[in-house]
Amino acid sequence: MAVLTPEWTAFLYLVAAVCFILALKGLGSPRTARRGNLIGALGAVIAMVVVFLSTELDNLALILGVIAVGTIIAVPASRMVKMTQMPQLVALFNGVGGGAAALVALLELEHSVSFGAYLAVAFTVLVGSIAFSGSVITFLKLQELMPTRPIVFIGHAAVIVVLAVVGLAAAAIIVLPEAWLAGVGLGGLKWSAAVAGLGVGSVLGVLLVLPVGGADVPIVISLLNAGTGLAVAASGLVLNNTLLLVAGTLVGASGSILTREMAKAMGRSVTGILFGAFRGASSAGSTATSDRPVRSSSADDVAILLGYANRVVVVPGYGLAVAQAQHTMAELAQTLEAKGIEVVFGIHPVAGRMPGHMNVLLAEANVPYEALAEMDEVNPQFKTADVALVVGANDVVNPAAKTTPGSPIYGMPILDVQDARQVVFLKRSMRPGFAGIENDLLFDQKTTLLFGDAKESLTKVLGAVKNL
Ligand code: TAP
Repeated sequence: MAVLTPEWTAFLYLVAAVCFILALKGLGSPRTARRGNLIGALGAVIAMVVVFLSTELDNLALILGVIAVGTIIAVPASRMVKMTQMPQLVALFNGVGGGAAALVALLELEHSVSFGAYLAVAFTVLVGSIAFSGSVITFLKLQELMPTRPIVFIGHAAVIVVLAVVGLAAAAIIVLPEAWLAGVGLGGLKWSAAVAGLGVGSVLGVLLVLPVGGADVPIVISLLNAGTGLAVAASGLVLNNTLLLVAGTLVGASGSILTREMAKAMGRSVTGILFGAFRGASSAGSTATSDRPVRSSSADDVAILLGYANRVVVVPGYGLAVAQAQHTMAELAQTLEAKGIEVVFGIHPVAGRMPGHMNVLLAEANVPYEALAEMDEVNPQFKTADVALVVGANDVVNPAAKTTPGSPIYGMPILDVQDARQVVFLKRSMRPGFAGIENDLLFDQKTTLLFGDAKESLTKVLGAVKNL
């Protein structure tokens, strides 16, 4: 039974929409992100409850059963996922959203009458199914359940073009008036066209993401996320639901901005990321390591370097996240500061595997926000730093981004650690970073390497610093 009047429904939808906007605002800073997340979740709960209280729902038991199944899967998955696996989880959740929007639009086809409604159905079916299958491939790549390198087969681009044309033709059949279609012998084909659109979109999603190299996959996740948002917004038009329209538009807009910002921070263009492999450019690069000599040293030596410095800039990267070394790193920073040494954390916008990865990890270890400096702020400070301590980072400090045209990371802004008096790398081996290219800085005169798992190395360095 519908308990809520249309006026109350509209009002509560407005409250939920405001929650979503406040959530986005909160997510803009690590200080307010947790609260922002909770406000967003509150908005989602309000939106869901209102649907039950404002609509005469058939199949109530089935709906509640499906919600229970989703909850049983999603809650443990979200709790158990490691920080380093978060992009995959986001990809899966996002893909499911796109797929759901596509299926809802397909089922709403029979209730659609206006040109606008048919257009929204066609858009949602195509974009939602691309977002779904594309997200599944990004998940498989990041989880390394399939090769992360770009995969391109002969005639790949041509198949994409043909499928895109078929998809547009299916969309045209959905949108054009039935009378006109009957006149040209295509009457009664709207349902078949929508099902075909769903199939074509699903194959297109796979073919569009296969050529993307591992390092660029997080950007594609953000792009597909924007696609899901737009598909959901269009499904709001299909279902005549203002809140879906608002929420979808927010996701579409924020996803598009995030995609652009991430691409900029990596010095790449979105078209280059999607279609670069067809032009022969690979984001994987060479994984060859040279046998030039490096200076490796012990934890005691690194402790002496740090203990007698005035200023230390720490550069955390993906390896710090994998090793879960944030707490030991935070303790080392505190110990150095207690000895009167200034410690700053230099945060690259794409350090790790997702936006804000390092900020979240360091916040978890209670590193004060004031100790974190973004790239533009910290770069001039390297010149006056005695030591740049690079913990599990590689690409984001690779000078090839500035000096080597043709390098896969050429043009990506980097942290200028090479300007510091001494550079210390904590890593396990001479293997390259995610982009798969060698870092000349590892062989530099001023560089010292401490090999080993970041957490183990930092524990040893911390012990040695305490004994100085
Ligand atoms: P990477 O360049 O991937 O370097 C990570 C380094 O950590 C590697 O050199 C690795 O060397 C080391 N490492 C791995 N596990 C370790 C462990 N347990 N202990 C110690 N060291 C360990 O990371 P980065 O500098 O943070 O750069 C991020 C990369 O991801 C960039 O290429 C970026 O473009 C890409 N990316 C990021 C994002 C976002 S938004 N963050 C999005 C897309 C792509 P060893 O194997 O020798 O230990």
